[in-house]
Amino acid sequence: GAAEAPAELGGSPKRGRWAPPTLPTEPALYDGPFPFYRRPAEEGRFSLDAQRCYHPDARQLRYFAPPRAERPEPAFDLRHGYRDLYVRRDEGRREGLEHLLQWVAGNRDRLRAQGDAAGRPVNADFVTWRGHLTKVLTTPYESQEGWLLAVSLFRGTLYVSEVETPAARQQREQRSDMLQELAYMGYKFERYMCADTPDGSPDPTGVVNTNEAFCTVVRTRLGSHSLLFAGEVDCADPRGAWPEPPACYVELKTCKELHSPAQRRSFYRYKLIKWWAQSFLPGVSRIVAGFRAPDGSVATLETFETMKIFQLIRGDRGCWKPAVCMNFCEAFLAFLKKVVTEDDPQLVHLFAWEPGRPVSYTRHQGAEHVFLPAWYVETMSG
Ligand code: A3P
Ligand code: MG
Ligand code: MG
Repeated sequence: GAAEAPAELGGSPKRGRWAPPTLPTEPALYDGPFPFYRRPAEEGRFSLDAQRCYHPDARQLRYFAPPRAERPEPAFDLRHGYRDLYVRRDEGRREGLEHLLQWVAGNRDRLRAQGDAAGRPVNADFVTWRGHLTKVLTTPYESQEGWLLAVSLFRGTLYVSEVETPAARQQREQRSDMLQELAYMGYKFERYMCADTPDGSPDPTGVVNTNEAFCTVVRTRLGSHSLLFAGEVDCADPRGAWPEPPACYVELKTCKELHSPAQRRSFYRYKLIKWWAQSFLPGVSRIVAGFRAPDGSVATLETFETMKIFQLIRGDRGCWKPAVCMNFCEAFLAFLKKVVTEDDPQLVHLFAWEPGRPVSYTRHQGAEHVFLPAWYVETMSG
């Protein structure tokens, strides 16, 4: 299909010297029919508590509890608590695949029982975080931020783990107070929209602790690639049109209020692509946006059905296309399979991408970039 050909275009040998193949990212190369993407099925759940400790259950799952009106009354004050009711996760601690691997290890008997002819301990071609795949999906349209993905093949499964780029690290460490407050406001919005129990009401007076997370683990397939990935989800709506997970999950987002058709078009072009990719991958059916007024209140709420987002952008020539994102992802996964063929958890291929360039890679043997922990290799080798 359309996604296969571009992988062959890169990496022409330069005057007799072998150059490693690269993968081009231009949207036009991936503009074809939407590839096969199996409806994601929830395979498991886990939670991270206020101390960032792992639990193999749904204790951190919260429930969608929106106000009745499109304009919240009384107003949501997203700035409330930023100075004194905010416990921030230590983002300097790079967790890699740690929590996801804990889930895999804890479910190894079941995963093995589902085993395939290849006798792999994990019956999936790829194990990764949803957020890493979101970045891959949006790559053909991204012009600001590059990425680095580390890949190891271990007992028949490719593990993909993000490495922070130097630019991203610098941005994180030098984030202005204004940007930090904006990030807080995104989390605060969740406090106004979610309750702790299915029939409860939100209590927005408490502490915002960004260590807490609820994650769904889903299984799906893109073309010929079987995927097992985990993603953090904001809440579930047991009373919605789709009561079963993962469709019952609702993604919450905040965004600056839109005042003109031009601003709305720009929002569709540059922001909605990320929202769509994040929710489409795990089969989250709805995104509820809170549009922020300058005073930090929520001016309006708007619901986007994930499966209908393509209709909103279809009329805009030069806008992103879901099929391009998915075809590129399929081609990228095929590229990983072609490059990473030695089964060795100590061998790491680093795939690097910067806007305006093709995806390239380097090969690393030895400690520096190894990301599969010894305990995991040990557990899954038994
Ligand atoms: P928004 O939803 O308003 O963007 P998520 O939306 O994925 O559930 O993330 C919740 C909030 O975490 C975001 O709110 C944002 O405030 C913060 N956040 C997520 N990713 C971030 C990033 N890369 N840098 C800074 N803040 C981020
Ligand atoms: Mg979230
Ligand atoms: Mg959110």
